[in-house]
Amino acid sequence: MDRPPGSYEVITRETIDEVKSRIDIVDVIGDFVTLKRSGQNYKALSPFTNEKTASFYVVPSKGIFKDFSSGKGGDGITFVMEHEGMSYVEVIRYMAKKYGVEVKEEAISEDQHVQESDRDSLYIVMNYAKEHYKDLLNNSEEGKSIGLSYFRERGFNDRTIEKFELGYSLNEWDSFCKKALRAGYSDEMLEKAGLIIKKDPGKMYDRFRGRVIFPVHNLAGKVIAFGARILTKEKDQPKYINSPETEIYRKGHVLYGMFQAKNAIRREDFCYLVEGYTDVISLHLADVDNVVSSSGTALTDEQIKLLRRFTENITVLFDGDAAGIKAALRGIDLVLKGGLNVRIVLLPDAEDPDSFSRKRGSAEFRQYLKDHTQDFISFKIDLYAKDASHDPIKKAEAIRDIVTSISLIPDPIKRSVYIQETGQLLKMPESVLVTELNKIVISERRKKEQDRSREESRAPSVTIEDIEPVTKTDMASIVQRQERESMRLLLNYAESHYDDQRLVDFMLTELDDVEFTNPVYREIHQRFREGAQVGTVVDTFYFMEHGSDAVKQEVADLTTSRYEASKHWSEKYHIHFPNEKDLLHDLAYTNVLRLKFRLIQKLTEDNLQQMKQAANEDDLEKYFTIHEQLKGAEKDLASLLGIVVPK
Ligand code: CTP
Ligand code: MN
Repeated sequence: MDRPPGSYEVITRETIDEVKSRIDIVDVIGDFVTLKRSGQNYKALSPFTNEKTASFYVVPSKGIFKDFSSGKGGDGITFVMEHEGMSYVEVIRYMAKKYGVEVKEEAISEDQHVQESDRDSLYIVMNYAKEHYKDLLNNSEEGKSIGLSYFRERGFNDRTIEKFELGYSLNEWDSFCKKALRAGYSDEMLEKAGLIIKKDPGKMYDRFRGRVIFPVHNLAGKVIAFGARILTKEKDQPKYINSPETEIYRKGHVLYGMFQAKNAIRREDFCYLVEGYTDVISLHLADVDNVVSSSGTALTDEQIKLLRRFTENITVLFDGDAAGIKAALRGIDLVLKGGLNVRIVLLPDAEDPDSFSRKRGSAEFRQYLKDHTQDFISFKIDLYAKDASHDPIKKAEAIRDIVTSISLIPDPIKRSVYIQETGQLLKMPESVLVTELNKIVISERRKKEQDRSREESRAPSVTIEDIEPVTKTDMASIVQRQERESMRLLLNYAESHYDDQRLVDFMLTELDDVEFTNPVYREIHQRFREGAQVGTVVDTFYFMEHGSDAVKQEVADLTTSRYEASKHWSEKYHIHFPNEKDLLHDLAYTNVLRLKFRLIQKLTEDNLQQMKQAANEDDLEKYFTIHEQLKGAEKDLASLLGIVVPK
């Protein structure tokens, strides 16, 4: 399937149309996301963010998806482009393969050809390299006698070797490099892909030499990196040489074996997490397919996010030696922190999955995994058990350790379930554990707050004028701050004139369709409206006589306290507080826009909440429409305000 570089072929319109006509959006997205039926539609946790409640929708009747958490949306092609970071052409090829459509190509001009992105080329060159290493493993003398026989010794069968597309790189300086150059790949591209290393100008050599090759696949099954294991016991050679990060490979975003495991993970609804390449393959050999590896490094947030798309349940599987236990402990905390459920299996001391399953056989290995899976609490208790029963200091240590892990769990309900379990297992009152837990949670929160305030004191002072994307919980209070500013302007400058009109007239016209969220402001607004209708001047004195207590209090605050935003304005315009009046035109205008902008954002949030609870397709459709309208309005206001809203 390789397209030699230098060919100027593009996919024909007919092929694209044919592919498009075959696309079933549920089927396409279902390859990457676990979808749950919801009436005529499907719902899932957003694969693009870390959300806890589902706001990712697939609407098969329209062939579209919409992710309200990240704002992304579109058809099946857009989805795969976004999700896999593929180009349009890559997605068409991927879909064609998926649906068995023959790809026809036609010639195009050189200019068009040059536009093909680097990413496309990187996938192509990585695929070329993978085929090269596979071929050497299976067909070259050196590959067969060294690489293949090594795999055979380890019990790797043909099926597994093919499933993981294992390969071999010759023990020569530049045999791959020469071959690839001859085949038309540029040295720039080979270097970009991390396959060759350039020394001096004109001198280059292969990155992987005399090693067996483990390709790393993305979720769509494309090779994006290699890990290469040495077979000899040379002292100053690293055991593995891995691909560097490239435009298509970000180490922390990938889990080895995910492509081969994803269906099994969904089916079993849990996933084994192991240390390395060979552990993943050993488990497959024992017919345990739901397994991935973070390849010798600590789990990243991105990897947790990736796992979460397929399951919430992780079983950490490590060697039973000291290093394995240490790695398991670290793994537990990272998984807990990511909001996933964690269990542990430790292998007997000095065994790894490979040695163990070969000694005992697949069936017994599987049985061992079943019988020895523990939740993390009993695992930790066992760790301390030897000494803890006699030694009160050890016992206290054990408790603190367990509770610290529990404190990492984001969900308070889960936390309390684990506290209960710990209490039962350690035969101690829950209240003691809860106290300990609270101590840890509070001190963590303090630490975070300190970090934050340190950060804030470094940042330039923030005023209500600053528009920035905000989180849901902030929305209501941000709207209220904007409302407060409208009130402050009205109360202080209602009768002031600018551009031949009174501020109160301008504001009331502009705010006519606005319903303030804060009841006090609603009342003030209403008074101004009434005053305007009957021609009375509504001012501080008026409120002091007629207002409710809450209104009086607020009016007093707003007319006496220093102008919150003045600092910002004075910095921006080099004008000081007493001159605020001169800026009334700008102030009133932007205030009105900002208030509306915030209100629209709040309505959008509210609508999203409704949508999450939508019972049927009609409702969903209605909320969709509202959402689109609100987004449109938000964009218009944003452009008037000169700000960019994130999609
Ligand atoms: N690793 C690495 N570079 C190294 C050593 C290890 O990237 N120099 C990563 C690899 O992903 C490896 C994992 O850490 O798979 C675990 O290391 P190790 O247990 O030493 O390797 P295994 O793959 O288990 O190899 P084997 O079973 O053959 O010893
Ligand atoms: Mn190992």
